[in-house]
Amino acid sequence: MTEQSSAHREPMRFDDPLDDHGHNPSTARPIGELLAARLGRRDLIQGLVASAAAAGLVSVLPFGRAAQAQGASASTLTFKELKKGADANHHVAEGYDARVLMRWGDKVAPDAPEFDAKNLDAAAQARQFGYNCDFVGFTPLPLGSNRSDRGLLCVNHEYTNTDFMWSGVGRDNIMDVMTRSRVEVELAAHGVSIVEIAKRGDEWRVVGDSRYNRRISMLNTEIAIAGPAAGHDRMKTSADPSGRKVIGTLNNCAGGMTPWGTMLTAEENFHQYFGGKPEGTKEEANHKRYGITGRPTYGWWAKQVDRFDIGKENNEPNRFGWVVEIDPHDPASVPVKRTALGRAKHENASCAVNHDGRVVVYSGDDERFEYIYRFVTGGRYNPGDRAANRNLLDEGTLYVAQFTEDGKVRWLPMVHGQGPLTAANGFGSQAEVMIDTRRAADLLGATPMDRPEDVDPNPVTGTVYVMLTNNSNRAAADAQNPRQRVNAANPRARNSFGHVLAMVPPKVGSGFDHAATEFTWTLPILCGSADPATAARYPAGTTEDGFFAAPDNCAFDSKGRLWITTDQGEAWQRLSKAADGVFAMDVTGAGAYVAKRFYSVPIGAEMCGPCFTPDDRTLFVAVQHPGTDGVEGGFENPATRWPDFKDGVPPRPSVVAITKRDGGVIGT
Ligand code: FEO
Ligand code: CA
Ligand code: CA
Repeated sequence: MTEQSSAHREPMRFDDPLDDHGHNPSTARPIGELLAARLGRRDLIQGLVASAAAAGLVSVLPFGRAAQAQGASASTLTFKELKKGADANHHVAEGYDARVLMRWGDKVAPDAPEFDAKNLDAAAQARQFGYNCDFVGFTPLPLGSNRSDRGLLCVNHEYTNTDFMWSGVGRDNIMDVMTRSRVEVELAAHGVSIVEIAKRGDEWRVVGDSRYNRRISMLNTEIAIAGPAAGHDRMKTSADPSGRKVIGTLNNCAGGMTPWGTMLTAEENFHQYFGGKPEGTKEEANHKRYGITGRPTYGWWAKQVDRFDIGKENNEPNRFGWVVEIDPHDPASVPVKRTALGRAKHENASCAVNHDGRVVVYSGDDERFEYIYRFVTGGRYNPGDRAANRNLLDEGTLYVAQFTEDGKVRWLPMVHGQGPLTAANGFGSQAEVMIDTRRAADLLGATPMDRPEDVDPNPVTGTVYVMLTNNSNRAAADAQNPRQRVNAANPRARNSFGHVLAMVPPKVGSGFDHAATEFTWTLPILCGSADPATAARYPAGTTEDGFFAAPDNCAFDSKGRLWITTDQGEAWQRLSKAADGVFAMDVTGAGAYVAKRFYSVPIGAEMCGPCFTPDDRTLFVAVQHPGTDGVEGGFENPATRWPDFKDGVPPRPSVVAITKRDGGVIGT
């Protein structure tokens, strides 16, 4: 631990911790209510521990050395576990190299200027690598090959840390010093980068003059709107009377890659950019349901740019909160917002090809008491004809998840005219079911979750893993608002550590039925510390270095092993008491769910974007906002200047490529 890490400040936040916001006002009866009524909280936790023991798991209570030896030796992950800690640098397990590949401000477009931390410029930023890299996808070149030495890296830039981009920006002056030209830099720093990379020896390099290199930004990239909501009156603005095109994509958090080599990028916390009071406006109830309160995190955007003021453009927020498809293999292609997948604070969008060829896209809505969604295409994936898959995501059925206390997931279809989704409830068409996805899910009786982050299908085992990052507002079984009470799938009140949930689709032949109306579910890990009060549940063999908190993103290697990254936010000193990082585990066998710490970020950063090359010999990760969370400092005096470590250069969010020194497969 560094000196900075033990200091505490009341931080100046310009990003949105999310853990602090919930906008689900519904008081419908929760699915877990019967369970909660039958079992007090203590009994509920004891019940979990008892079932854990029966399943060969342990809570942290009997945590001991004998158990450690058993689980650790059983794991197929043979790397020596990294010790927990937090300091100015990043760290990877012994025998591995972690090299910075792309930093905020690095050239993306071949004609981009060099990064100049003291003279940020919107036109330059729109051609350079954006801020706060999050999702990382890799698609091999040539298209359709399985190569692991050349490909396109597709990277999200979720948000900006204004006080680490400019000197002298503080809580008291930010509304004055954030001029229009500075806001435009921030717009340009949001979005996506597509970059060609190639591996020479064991080192990855950016192909600087590649024709594929491209920025998609909030500043100036035109994006098409397709699917049921396209062209609807509530999608129209004065800049776009058609309701079919929009400049930019916003708060791109995680995402996914499709089987046909396109990128899905998920718009998450779009609400934090929109100013103006919803009260008395046409879209009042809708804006409130999505958290637009008149107190935006980035209030200076609405002050400088009319489209971010809902008093001036009441429909503009309806054009965000979508999953956007980008074809990285066609640099001239127009990205498309796929409205059939619903409007939410989408964490991610991860694909599985179903046994019958339909494509299923899983996504979490990352906010306290929000839901888990699944989209099933109407058509089938055509591996032999890429063009035939181009608009596959425009037609199909969106479902929301309901978890029952007897271990079932029920997928509830969100179809206009069915059940409560009728004109009587204000849904004029499928377009409105999609624009008001959250309200539709409320009416259907979806289960409110502890902030669903990544929802990712394991391509080997078929199990779909959900990272439930935390929910400190989750209330006890007797809380007044039934929706906020603990339920079977979210069993701990004040859940500040988070948990991992597994959804199991039925098997069909050698495949899985991801489109089935019913799955089963289990809770493989309840995160926590060695303090019994956290009611953690880790398998025998998990060391305290492997205890993690706030699971956020995840990836699978080609053996189906699970690699989880964490985002503890400012609470890291209270939670794991260590930096965020990458935690690897088996999902089957004697070492199942024994998490081992593999990589740690620099102090104040969060870990995003785990992504393997097809040969498992490179793991890409994204280091988001180094030097910011839970530590003192700003542009002038950051807690770390990673990765440059040069005076005057602030910390820079970066993508890191991890390789094994002997050239072998990561993790073994
Ligand atoms: Fe952007 Fe849910 O993390
Ligand atoms: Ca995330
Ligand atoms: Ca995050």
